[in-house]
Amino acid sequence: MTERTQVGIVGAGPAGLLLSHMLHLAGVESVVFERGNREHVGTRLRAGGLEHGAVALLERVGLGARMRKLALSVAATDFRFDGCGHRVDFRAITGHPFTIYPQYEIVSDLLEARAAAGGEVRFDTPVRRIDGLESARPVIHYEAGGSVRRLECDFIAGCDGYHGVCRQAIPASVQRVFEENYPFGWLGILAEVAPPSLEVAYACHERGFAMQSFRAPTISRMYLQCPPDDRADNWSDERIWSELALRLDVPDRPPVARGPIVQKSVTAMKSFVVEPLSYGTLFLAGDAAHIVPPTGAKGLNSAMADIALLAPAFAAFYRTGRREGLDGYSAACLRRTWQVQRFAAEMCTLLHRFPGASDYAWRLQREKLAYMTGTATGMRTYAESFVGLPFEP
Ligand code: APR
Repeated sequence: MTERTQVGIVGAGPAGLLLSHMLHLAGVESVVFERGNREHVGTRLRAGGLEHGAVALLERVGLGARMRKLALSVAATDFRFDGCGHRVDFRAITGHPFTIYPQYEIVSDLLEARAAAGGEVRFDTPVRRIDGLESARPVIHYEAGGSVRRLECDFIAGCDGYHGVCRQAIPASVQRVFEENYPFGWLGILAEVAPPSLEVAYACHERGFAMQSFRAPTISRMYLQCPPDDRADNWSDERIWSELALRLDVPDRPPVARGPIVQKSVTAMKSFVVEPLSYGTLFLAGDAAHIVPPTGAKGLNSAMADIALLAPAFAAFYRTGRREGLDGYSAACLRRTWQVQRFAAEMCTLLHRFPGASDYAWRLQREKLAYMTGTATGMRTYAESFVGLPFEP
């Protein structure tokens, strides 16, 4: 027997879960498929910061209660280079703070809301392929109980991340891929220690980029630029702390605070966009559609901004039968996406030490930082992009 639903969603990351929740609020039925288990999805240590548009969206869809209790509000970024700290108060410039509320908390709020509403999120259920995208009856082929089964849908939402199967179902002849790989990675650590300040610090140092952030008042999240193929076990705790201090510590700022490191991992860095974001009855959102280097904290926010466009487009179709929102989704989403790409790529090139860069390039890089942090125009340009573009056009 073939099962049916209105919107079949592949992937239970923030994009897929938020879409399923917003569709439910609009009276649209969906089924979410996730190859990982609930524990894996709910505890992954990923992004941690929300733009004001993302906070407003979570409030609007009834997910503000725990966020209001647990979230921390950040007013400024402290840029450290040439031995000094340069504080950019983006809240004073734009009127908007940046909100620290980790991705695992958002995912757990979404999973709880889906469960309370009797929503269907099928864990341990990998999707093997999707087809029929040129028709009004696309099919998701998923694995369950040792066999491959079918779910017929009106539409499929590909929220299955960068390595997912949905994007691959679009014929190569209609797909254009834009991609940039960077010659470095990030060693990220989580440490059980209060950060020296509840602000985010970015260091652009001769030895490489470093960042000081946090996930909670007593949990620090720190990053170090490292070679792209480096391994976390090359880094002893002592080496991590001394390198963080070398890159981040400057006079007039509290020094890096050391504590037990409870997690460390290396991430490669890339920029990626696929165009278009839809094909027939398939719509891509989140990391399946675009990736940014993490400098600038845009990945999670972009995934949510996609859904802020896609969910109302589906809702309008089911309410009125009109397809304008769905037909315009790719173009509208790409406009915002490319602005986000611009900011993330600029921040990435501005703050990292590029292997082999000439003395001229390295000197100019710090001059660009001085302009961005020392002039009203430079600060405003940073502040507006960092706190985030509007979520809907
Ligand atoms: N079948 C079922 N599930 C799949 C399949 C498949 N074939 N392929 C991938 N998935 C699942 C993954 O296990 C993952 O849980 O899709 C989910 C995609 O989730 P994310 O990678 O978190 O992507 P997204 O929801 O787009 O969120 C993007 O979150 O972590 C950040 O850097 C990321 O900030 C960005 C944002």
